[in-house]
Parts: sequence; C-alpha cells; structure tokens
Amino acid sequence: MKRRFYIETYGCQMNEYDSEILAGILSSQEYVPGSGPEDADLILLNTCSVREHAEQKVHSRLGELKALKKKNPGLRIGLVGCMAQNLKADIVKHKPYVDMVLGPDSYRHIPEYLHSDDSPVIDTDLSKYEVYDGLFPSRREGVNAWISIMRGCDKFCSYCIVPYTRGRERSRSPQSILDEAKRSAEQGFAEITLLGQNVNSYRSGAFRFHDLLKALTEVEGIKRIRYTSPHPQDITEDLVKVHAACRPRIASHIHLPLQAGSDRVLRRMNRTYSQKHYLQLVDMIRKHVPDMGITTDMIVGFPGETEADFRETLEVMRKVKFDSAYMFKYSPRPHTRAAAMEDDVSEAVKSARLTELIALQKEHTLYRYRKMIGRDVGILVESESKKSPDEMKGRTSCNKIVVFPREDYRPKALIRRRITDAQGVTLFSRPEG
Ligand code: SAH
Ligand code: SF4
Ligand code: F3S
Repeated sequence: MKRRFYIETYGCQMNEYDSEILAGILSSQEYVPGSGPEDADLILLNTCSVREHAEQKVHSRLGELKALKKKNPGLRIGLVGCMAQNLKADIVKHKPYVDMVLGPDSYRHIPEYLHSDDSPVIDTDLSKYEVYDGLFPSRREGVNAWISIMRGCDKFCSYCIVPYTRGRERSRSPQSILDEAKRSAEQGFAEITLLGQNVNSYRSGAFRFHDLLKALTEVEGIKRIRYTSPHPQDITEDLVKVHAACRPRIASHIHLPLQAGSDRVLRRMNRTYSQKHYLQLVDMIRKHVPDMGITTDMIVGFPGETEADFRETLEVMRKVKFDSAYMFKYSPRPHTRAAAMEDDVSEAVKSARLTELIALQKEHTLYRYRKMIGRDVGILVESESKKSPDEMKGRTSCNKIVVFPREDYRPKALIRRRITDAQGVTLFSRPEG
C-alpha cells in the first residue's frame, strides 16, 4: 500500500528546490504525492526563519495541522528547513504533535527516519559537505528548473539568520551541475535558474561562477539561464563580460541586494561594500550590458538608522533606479549580531520609511517598464494569462512579465515581439491601432 505525502514550502527558492529533493526522496520510498493536506499520511512544512513574520505564518499553520491530526491520528507531521534548525527546542517542548524536526542538511537520512520509533525524530546537524549530489529532485512541470549549485552562507550580514540555519558555504562539483542541467533539458525544461544563498561565491578549485555559467551555455536545449542571489562583493567584471558575451542564453538580469544606501549602516550590517563600490558595480554592469535588469532587496529601520541615513538610501535608489525591489522592515533575529544592538527605530518610523521607499520604487519601476515600450524583445512563453484565455504570458530576458495575444504560441517557445504598453509590473505586446 502506497502512503501519501504533501509538502508545503515557505521562504526562498532554495527551499523550493529542497522541497523537490524531499519529494524525490519520498517518491523513492513507499510514498506518492497526495492532492492536499487532507489526503496525506505525511505532511512536511519546509520553513523559513528569515523574518519573524515568516515564522508566525508557520506557527499558525501548525495549529491548523494539529486539528487535522485529531481527525486523522495516523497523520505524521514534519517541520523541516530553517525553522527546524532555529527552533528545535521550542518545537519539541511546545508542539508534541510534530513528529519530525529536520534541518536543511538532514534530508538524505529521511528513508531511515520514516521507520524510526523516536517521537519526535530530530536531526538538525549541519554539514560542511552535503550538497545532495546523487539525489534527484522531483520537479513540477513548467518552464523553469531550479538547480542548487551551492549551499550555506559565510557572509554573516549582522541582521541575517541564514548562516545559522544553513551552515557553511559549500559548492557542488561542476560535473554534477552540468549533468543536472542536461537532465533538466531532456525532461523538457527550457530555462534553468542556478540557486545559492550566495550564488556567485560558487567555486570548485580554480573553476569560478562565471566559468560555470559559460560551461552551462553549451548544454543543448536550455534556452535561458538565470541565477539568484549574488552578493555585490563577489560580482566581477569577468562575470559581467560572460553576460555580455553569452546573450541571449544568459538572461540579462542581476538581482543585486543593496539593503541600505548609507555607508554607516552598510558597515553595521557587515555588508562589506560601500555605497561608492555598489554604484561603480552598477555602472560597470550597464557599460557591458546596457539593458540589464537590475533588481534589489532593501531593509529599512536597521538598528541606529537615522533619518539622514534613510535619505541616503533614497538618494542611492534614485541614482540606480532599480527595475524592481523587495523591501522589508528590519526584524531582529536570534543568534545574529544585530539582535544584540538596540532595535531603536520605532515601528511607526519603520512603517513610514517602508511606505516612502515603496512609493519611490514604484516610480522607478514605472520608469524602467515604460522604457521598454517600442522595443523588440525576446520572450520565453510561460502559460495562459490569468486574466484572459485569449492571451498568454511570458518573461523577458530582464525578468519582466509580458502579456500578448495567444496566436499559436506554445509554452517554452522563445519568441520576439514588440512591447506596446506597461501597466504596474506588467508589460503588454498587443496589436496596435
Ligand atoms: N542571500 C541573499 C539574501 C537572502 S535573505 C543576499 O544576501 O542577498 C533575503 C532578503 O531578506 C535579504 O536580502 C534581506 O533584504 C532580507 N532580510 C534578511 N534578514 C532580514 C531581517 N532580519 N530583517 C528584515 N529583512 C531581512
Ligand atoms: Fe544573509 Fe548576508 Fe548571507 Fe545573504 S549574504 S544569506 S543576507 S548573511
Ligand atoms: Fe528563509 Fe532559510 Fe531561505 S531562512 S530565506 S528559507 S535560506
């Protein structure tokens, strides 16, 4: 008798990939995917600790699953990923209905844990070596395949919990990555996205991130290659030159988290670059690839951030004019250095700064999107548009969504069309006149 599993994923793309690894492991055992939580013998929540809000969502979800378990006592619940690593003791003490607490480096052992009598089963050992080589992710059908190329983070930005939940940096071998890319192409994926907490600090001996990107452009059938998230400190001119030389195979998009604009705050965040260095990187990128989409992550209300610091952040945003940005209020995280600093920016000020930042970014997004009008661009077709069955949607190389008439386009085709309009965060390519 096959048993059924159901996985819910929170947090970043690295977790999306890990959930596919988990699904692959379970499918190699006596498990098949269930259609939902009600239909499962095993539910795994793959969790995120990056901000307090991310953890709260999972706490309330666990409450709901507790009720489900009352109705279905055979159900096993596993908390896996970053929260398992961060909150093991709390979960074990306060949530006795959780049957497994597994950190991000423990998944290879799941086949044994499925048959363990321990209650709960706990494994939160972090590894210096685990990169899940030899395990095959069970991917959902689609255009894009995630490929994790490195794990962990050694940067220790002072606000960030990731180095504690994910452990030390380690890279996969080039051959295993190339093999996985080939297999993805054979399975029909048109695009791959390379993943790592610090994707561009990838290295295998003398073989660096830009060498890997270049090697991947040789894989037949892959139409587009993306990656996320790089750290500004490790952006090299060699990397940007590979972008320029390998267009359109390598997408013209860099997600380059800035976090803050003032040098004082950047130093306290331990970001290891200055405002000047960041702006020089942007100039260098745009010199080699003028139409590169540049997106970012920002944090407002970091401990000690003054009004003047925040104004500097706005000034840098005005200079760069990012294509889009993820913007967050600072959230103190346990273990981190910033947690020992006084969280002295009030909630009201954090909210006001976030609102102002979002409003400014909205102007820049509109500016960048409207600049695309009249251009002929390559679009990788994804699926039917949500709003109309007569239209399809796809993505530009610079990572913007475009809506266009269905005609006889099929998902995964790389097509060329002229952009005719921009509204919010959507581009349109519609017949004119
Ligand atoms: N490795 C990536 C980011 C991973 S976390 C990088 O360095 O760019 C994703 C984003 O969450 C970060 O870029 C940051 O903007 C935000 N973030 C991380 N810790 C945070 C915290 N304690 N409070 C608020 N935002 C945070
Ligand atoms: Fe966190 Fe900084 Fe590492 Fe990104 S680089 S995961 S923000 S510590
Ligand atoms: Fe969250 Fe862990 Fe990713 S903390 S952002 S799921 S690495």
